[in-house]
Amino acid sequence: MDERKARGSRWSRMRAAALALCLFAAPAAADMTLKAAAATSARYSGAALDPDLFDEQPYVRLAREQFSAVTPENAMKWAVVEPMRGVFDWRAADKLVAFAQANGQKIRGHNLVWYMQLPDWLTSGTFTPTELRQLMVDHVTLEASRYKGSIYAWDVVNETFAEDGAWRHDMWLQAMGPDYVEIALRAARAADPGAKLYINDYNIESAGPKMRALYDLVASLKRKGAPIDGVGFESHFVAGKAPDDMREVMQAFANLGVDVAVTELDLRVKTPPDAKALDAQAADYAKVIGACVAVKQCVGVSTWGVTDAHSWIPFFFAGYGAALPFDENYQPKPAFFAAIDAFTRAERR
Ligand code: XIL
Repeated sequence: MDERKARGSRWSRMRAAALALCLFAAPAAADMTLKAAAATSARYSGAALDPDLFDEQPYVRLAREQFSAVTPENAMKWAVVEPMRGVFDWRAADKLVAFAQANGQKIRGHNLVWYMQLPDWLTSGTFTPTELRQLMVDHVTLEASRYKGSIYAWDVVNETFAEDGAWRHDMWLQAMGPDYVEIALRAARAADPGAKLYINDYNIESAGPKMRALYDLVASLKRKGAPIDGVGFESHFVAGKAPDDMREVMQAFANLGVDVAVTELDLRVKTPPDAKALDAQAADYAKVIGACVAVKQCVGVSTWGVTDAHSWIPFFFAGYGAALPFDENYQPKPAFFAAIDAFTRAERR
């Protein structure tokens, strides 16, 4: 065989091998789940779930098959678990925990201290600062103890800062000043020493006053030896506007000695979306997941819901919706495939 023929047959062997690889890889990709894709980079893929939907089979199937972590979208919030003072309703939260345990999923507890979805008896009552501190500590202690050992990570404190980086003037700040964060974290640690304790917020995914305020808070908590283990980046974005510096911002927080996670990802589009909007959305799913897998301390990515049929977006952002990787008929969107791709192919650390 002359030189040219030999080279030619080497090429055709390589082409055949490449083709075989494609044929082999293509069906695997179609069968791939978010959970399996995330696992290739030792991350979890998570979703916020609503236990009221557990009798909808297609919902349950996706929730079970696609995710290795779950967050109660509302079921563990104070207004739900203690609607009247001293009257507790753990049914939805227990259902979520049982579901996750049956499916071997991590649970992100959400949330213990926030300024929203508080029960009326608490917001309309008149309490002294000392009483409010006690109420907060008792609530954190009770809820974190109830699920002790079951929770992978708690969003202990949610949304502490205003957009300009000032402390949010909510009842907790008014009662205790900024110390409420450390008080809540210490109560959570005492109640469930095995849970990772997070502060969770939005509009901190890009450098700016709010991000810097949280950065300074985490740095000062670390200096004081307060129990802070992680920062949650909610990541409620408009498709096409996911920040370019998210990786750098997450890395900066991680360098303080905490884990980071994308906790409530959705990428809203104007409804009804066209193909171009769904492609832009897919590109941003890849961008955000790519940022997480490029940061060693980024433990996983959770979407805020499973499908476009049940997302909070249309109720809170007029004219927007279709923000999740599965559509209203539970079918995967371009965002789903982009997410798989980003988990499995991006630069990983
Ligand atoms: C939202 C839920 O999705 C809605 O169902 C509820 O009515 C309001 O809260 N940041 C958070 C979440 O930390 O708890 C919020 O969830 C969305 C914004």
